[in-house]
Formats: sequence, structure tokens, C-alpha cells
Amino acid sequence: MKNILTGDRPTGRLHLGHYFGSLKQRVELQDQYNTYIIIADVQALTDNFDDPDKVRKNVREVALDNLAVGIDPNKTTLFIQSQIPEIAELTIFYSNLVTVSRLFRNPTTKAEVNQKKQVFGNEGESITYGFLGYPVSQAADITAFDADLVPVGDDQLPHIEQTREIVRKFNHIYGETLVEPEAMVGKNSRIKGLDGNEKMGKSLGNAIYLADDEDAITKKIMGAITDPNKIKKDDPANPDICMVYYYHKLVNEKNVDTVCQECKSGSRGCVACKKELIRSMMEFLKPIQARRHYYEEHPELVDQILEEGTKKARERAQETMRRVRQNMKIDYFKN
Ligand code: TRP
Ligand code: SF4
Repeated sequence: MKNILTGDRPTGRLHLGHYFGSLKQRVELQDQYNTYIIIADVQALTDNFDDPDKVRKNVREVALDNLAVGIDPNKTTLFIQSQIPEIAELTIFYSNLVTVSRLFRNPTTKAEVNQKKQVFGNEGESITYGFLGYPVSQAADITAFDADLVPVGDDQLPHIEQTREIVRKFNHIYGETLVEPEAMVGKNSRIKGLDGNEKMGKSLGNAIYLADDEDAITKKIMGAITDPNKIKKDDPANPDICMVYYYHKLVNEKNVDTVCQECKSGSRGCVACKKELIRSMMEFLKPIQARRHYYEEHPELVDQILEEGTKKARERAQETMRRVRQNMKIDYFKN
């Protein structure tokens, strides 16, 4: 069986953007691939090093979200990055193979730096060595497990490309050692936010979380952007510029043609349309939230899943590390 590695930064609960970008694919693929899911707390610390409580709390939330969407711990290895020292070790060796200017050119890192500048002003420019280098550590996450495939949202493509470059350079210098991974991007890999922004994001305040309850969903959907030209209930409108229609397409597939027609003809009011979306959204989230609830009620089970997953992941990473040490000629003491 081929290997998958993917995962999330534990900086908050996961939302619909994560679901369509990566979670959905990883659940579907877990039967055909040996799947590893990393809870990337070391990466989360690169820009949250001053808030360890937040990262620790969210390790659990992200574990719950993964289990909630249907990650089956009997098929998939769910583990915590910081508990695998081999990843840190690989990061150091890979850092020799990447130039600082190449790291500065990474478009995702660049976008994150710009976003920080907007929030923190000039202070945002003073990025740390650790933050700049996190794509190198992500290359270690992926290659430690000989991942063939990495299902991710499209914002992660630059990191996978950087990983591939590192692998080629490593194999060229030290001999065939690492597996060159491929990215896999889902068809709805970028979900727009409630405000119509191209990206749904925690920091943008425009996200629908997998764990949102009916009250939260109702508030968010009632406030979503619709066609601004539709003033009266029976005005015809253009669904293609309406966020409510956009989400109908994701979670109300069976009725989406009716929504579209009735919107265009003016026989559907926005309030009724939003109410239908709230019902469909809750229906969509129901099985996810039921599983989350089950695991919330059994915290010791979550602990056990994480502990066993991490142990198994570490053994796998140690195998890769032995090969790396041998080929880098740093296997001084044979064992
Ligand atoms: N950078 C990813 C994110 O922000 C999380 C992540 C860490 C990851 N290591 C990974 C994703 C390895 C895929 C593979 O969502
Ligand atoms: Fe949007 Fe529905 Fe209103 Fe049309 S009727 S503009 S799809 S909320």
C-alpha cells in the first residue's frame, strides 16, 4: 500500500474550508492508503510560540475534528508532531539544502507575512528563523513517512513543491533515500468565506466551523452576502453572486437546481432561501457533530488514540531515519 501524509496546524477548530480542501479526501482515501495524519504543533508554534496554551488546547480540537469527519483510528495513524524527534532531526539536515532566498520566495510564506504586516504593522516584518523555515520542517513531516501522496488545499502546493526539491537534492547528494511526494488537491479545494472573500479563514472571521451549533450557523447564514440588487422578496436575482447559493451548491446538492431557478425567476425570497440553507447545513454537519460528541464524551479514548498513533508514527519515522543516517554517513554506532 502507498502512503499518505497530511495534517493540520492546531491553531483553532477546523472549518468547511479544511473539510473540502483536505479532510474529505483523507477520509475517502484512508481505505486505499496507509494514512498518517500529523497534528503539526511544532509548526503551529512557529508563529504562536508565545501562546503554548492555545496550541495545546487545539491539538485536542484538531484531533476531535479529524475523528468527527470520519477518520478511523483503526485505519489511520493520528499523531502529534512534537513527539517525533526524528522530524526535528530531519529538519536540521534538510535546512542545508534550502537557500534563504528560496524560502523568501515561497508564495504561501509571503502571503502569511503580508497578512501579519496588516495585523501587526511593521512588527509583522520581523519574522523569525523558525517561521521562515517551517516549509523545511513540513518537508520533514512528509518524507519521514515516505509519503507518496499529500492531499492538501491549494495554498499548500508551494510547500509540497519545496519538499520535492529537497528530496531531489538529498537523493542526488546522498544517494536514493527519500520518496518524492505528490500533492493532491480536491475539486472544491478553496472554499470562499461567508463574506465572499476568496478564502475561508479563521483569522478572516468568515468561517463556518464543523463544530458550530445551530445558533451560530443561523447567525452566520442570516448575515451572509446575497445579490445586493435583490431588494424585494420577489425580485429576480443572480445566484452566482450570492454566498447563500454558493453554500447550497456544497451542502444541498440535491436541491440546488431548484434554488437556482427560483432565485432567477424571483419566486424565492432570500429569507426562505437562507432558512433552507441552515437546515441543509445542519443536516450536513449532523453526523460529524454526532461523532465529535461521542469522542468528547470519551476523552480517555482520544488520549489513547493519540498516544498509540504517535508511538506507531515514531517507529515508522525511525525506519526512515536509519536510512538517512546511513546514507549521510552519520551512522557511527551500529544499531
Ligand atoms: N501547513 C499545513 C497547514 O497549514 C499543515 C501541515 C503541517 C501539513 N505539516 C504538513 C500538511 C504536512 C500536509 C503535510 O494546514
Ligand atoms: Fe441568494 Fe437565495 Fe436570495 Fe437568490 S434567493 S439571492 S440564491 S439568498
